[in-house]
Amino acid sequence: MFQTASLPIRLRRNRKSEAIRKMVQETHLHPSNLIAPLFITDGENARSSISSLPGIERLSIDLAADEARYLYNRGIQSIALFPVIDPSLRSSGAQEAWNPDGILPQAISKIKELVPEICIIADVALDPYTSHGHDGLANSRGEILNEETIDCLIRMALVQAKAGVDFVAPSDMMDGRIKAIRSALDEEGFESTGILAYSAKYASSLYSPFREALKTKLLFGDKKTYQMDPANSREALLEAALDEEEGADILMVKPASLYLDIIAKLREQTKRPIAAYHVSGEYAMVMAAHAAGYLNKEKVFFETLLSIKRAGADLIFTYAVKEVLDLM
Ligand code: PBG
Repeated sequence: MFQTASLPIRLRRNRKSEAIRKMVQETHLHPSNLIAPLFITDGENARSSISSLPGIERLSIDLAADEARYLYNRGIQSIALFPVIDPSLRSSGAQEAWNPDGILPQAISKIKELVPEICIIADVALDPYTSHGHDGLANSRGEILNEETIDCLIRMALVQAKAGVDFVAPSDMMDGRIKAIRSALDEEGFESTGILAYSAKYASSLYSPFREALKTKLLFGDKKTYQMDPANSREALLEAALDEEEGADILMVKPASLYLDIIAKLREQTKRPIAAYHVSGEYAMVMAAHAAGYLNKEKVFFETLLSIKRAGADLIFTYAVKEVLDLM
């Protein structure tokens, strides 16, 4: 038999009991690390399910405020709002995106009024509002126009800021938009409104359930001329460095679990907080496997979110908030 006494280093000693394992635990997941996305829809006391996102619903503003209150009471510090825009309000110019009476600014001010403690983040991108489903304005050849789109994003960010948003979150991937939005916010007296930049946002196949939730469809092309190629990592570091220089307060990597290497590399590069978006497809895959009886969703979500944090993310956008709350 193997001579046990000749083994001075035994890592299992630090795993011997629950108490010891807790003492040496390196990464901790806390509710304050999680950001809950909420889909906002018209009406009152209205909710509708999303077939590819079981357990997640589109909520009218009053129900979204109740949800925000519930989440805050359970330790969640922040929500991210995504509006479902009536197709009749969509257009090629996306003008509804900066309507001060639109559903998103209304949701921001109402939730701020009812749950003033919670931090509200809102997306800045045109895809809920364009008739073609792209994140920016397009010309007749279907090319996405950078500076013209930025003009729209500025208007959109100002409307959200006026409604009381804590962070605007540009998710469009236009070049130079962080600088433009930062200076517009400052000029209008919103120097305390933050920018959470979707810095390394990949052209991923994992966003389809989100597009079902928002009822958007891409009518032509794809998002590869603005979202990043999943093959690239150096480019992600450049994107994040530029956003940081341009004034972003928080940098985001998206999606999360297939991009842990990007999160880890960015952790080495920046002192800014890093957010990661555990996106709709990452949630849907686990929910489907759970429904088939292949795995336990709560445990898989907890392990996934822990690994995202271990890679270096401070904050995680996730649809799985309720699945993991009891495990934290
Ligand atoms: C819109 C936006 C998207 C997501 C967040 N903001 C979709 C997209 O870029 O097509 C995806 C989030 C998710 O899948 O959960 N710019």
